[in-house]
Amino acid sequence: MLADIRELARDAASHEVGLGAFNVVLLEHGEAQIAAAEAVELPIILQLSQNAVKYHRGWLEPIGSAVLELAKRAKVPAVAHLDHAEDIDLCKAAVELGFNSIMYDGSKLPDEENRKTTAEITKWCHDRGVSVEAELGEVGGKNGVHDPSARTKPEDAAKFVEDTGVDLLAVAVGSSHAMTSRDASLDNELIAAIKAAVPVPLVLHGSSGVSDEGMRAAIQAGMTKINVSTHLNVIYTAKVREDLAAGPDLVDPRKYSSNGNAALQAEVERLLNWYAGK
Ligand code: G3H
Ligand code: ZN
Repeated sequence: MLADIRELARDAASHEVGLGAFNVVLLEHGEAQIAAAEAVELPIILQLSQNAVKYHRGWLEPIGSAVLELAKRAKVPAVAHLDHAEDIDLCKAAVELGFNSIMYDGSKLPDEENRKTTAEITKWCHDRGVSVEAELGEVGGKNGVHDPSARTKPEDAAKFVEDTGVDLLAVAVGSSHAMTSRDASLDNELIAAIKAAVPVPLVLHGSSGVSDEGMRAAIQAGMTKINVSTHLNVIYTAKVREDLAAGPDLVDPRKYSSNGNAALQAEVERLLNWYAGK
């Protein structure tokens, strides 16, 4: 069932647990993610990024409608979230399609412009009952270059939330996007300081690079929404590669993908439980 991310995140933050948010790259990954959430009876956020839309011929509606429908059909609370959207028209199209959460990513813009544009799209979304996540202090790795050095200052974060009215805030605390190793080091003191300074739940991007123990510490320090993409791709692709190597006659994608989908589902179950402190 479609659920409001603001309520899920507030609830998770008040219990000091994390909320798993997973990127849907291919449709069957979304199916596996929902199956995982149902199996462990925990809420889930399905994320479709602007890059994933670009991959799917630049068409939001076919893959977006499917993601939305998966979230609606889930037997647990689920959110249909647009991730890392730099294009305002795409944000509006996703809301019009029925997505109930968007991340507007103006982190590459000059600060004033990021603030102004984020505030405008936030008002537009709030008028339609949709929640908004934004990013302050660009989390590195979006262009393939790992840079974990960016940091968000607590006082800047507080002012940004006040200026824009966003519901969730992504901050730079030591992670970097698209890491295939899980050895990023997070600044938990900074997470705690930002958490104390801002009234909205915090979002960790680039969570694939963080170990299980590192993630638990970050959640205890104040992280709530935990975004994972690359780590699931690593697990899915390793299984598919193994099956293709063992079966040179395999040609049906349903056959060579099914173990990969099952592995992805098992890992989402494990991560959801872990983030929930179970
Ligand atoms: O917005 C998506 C996440 O930040 C995923 O990052 O691929 O490094 O896990 P990741
Ligand atoms: Zn991200």
